[in-house]
Amino acid sequence: MIALEPAHLVFNAEGTPCSEQFSEVYHSADGGHAQARHVFLGGNDLPARWRGRKRFVILETGFGLGLNLLATWLEWLNDDQRCVELHFVSFEKYPLRIGDLARAHAAWPEFGRIAEALRNQWPVLSPGVHRLELAQRRIILTLGFGDALQLLPEFEMPVDAFYLDGFSPAKNPEMWSGALCRSLARLAVPGATLATWSVAGTVRRALSAANFVVEKRPGFASKRQMLVGRYDCQAMHGDVEREAQGIAVDG
Ligand SMILES: C[S@@+](CC[C@H](N)C(=O)[O-])C[C@H]1O[C@@H](n2cnc3c(N)ncnc32)[C@H](O)[C@@H]1O
Repeated sequence: MIALEPAHLVFNAEGTPCSEQFSEVYHSADGGHAQARHVFLGGNDLPARWRGRKRFVILETGFGLGLNLLATWLEWLNDDQRCVELHFVSFEKYPLRIGDLARAHAAWPEFGRIAEALRNQWPVLSPGVHRLELAQRRIILTLGFGDALQLLPEFEMPVDAFYLDGFSPAKNPEMWSGALCRSLARLAVPGATLATWSVAGTVRRALSAANFVVEKRPGFASKRQMLVGRYDCQAMHGDVEREAQGIAVDG
């Protein structure tokens, strides 16, 4: 069994959590919780889209501190029209040690009890898939510890919304590659949405080639723009037809 390397968590001079492995911050210095709500929830039109649904599935690239999970969980708890079952699937190559998770969570007292509930079920840092039953089994967290690029092709679950959060494409291009975007598209239900803070051209092109129709929106705080997208089956049919005709398809 290949051992996992835990995250090397440090805090910069502003107190923002950073990864030593990537020399990158885990979230915007302007506020992690507010960023999660603006970019990931807002960008996927949540909570509106889970309302009245029996089951709703979110998939995230990069679990990190669990901040996006906690922001989503809190929103779900405060929504009286919440879906019956919320699945949150996330992949993490360098999971945090439990003590580091607690240090990071201390910045958000509003998550107090739910963050503690997450930490109480935090798995041993062994590679593979871990399933956590949260919120009286109404939130199911599936954590894939390992490289998202290797784990995603093995994964099967129809996904309604994607949170793309894998450090910057400049420092971590694999997490935004054509291969990764195609793995996401394979799981997307028709009309599935995505959101991310990155508007890099490479990211937009990789997503478009995987049949996500992308659009820029106003970004969070000091960031001018962010990206949202919708999986378009017609685009897929177009590509399948072009492939059948022997015409090269991007990506
Ligand atoms: C910006 S942080 C994610 C923050 C997180 N979404 C949160 O809410 O706290 C990016 C994460 O992607 C992880 N990561 C980077 N490359 C990866 C890969 N190839 N597979 C899985 N996770 C990866 C990093 O270890 C890091 O935890």
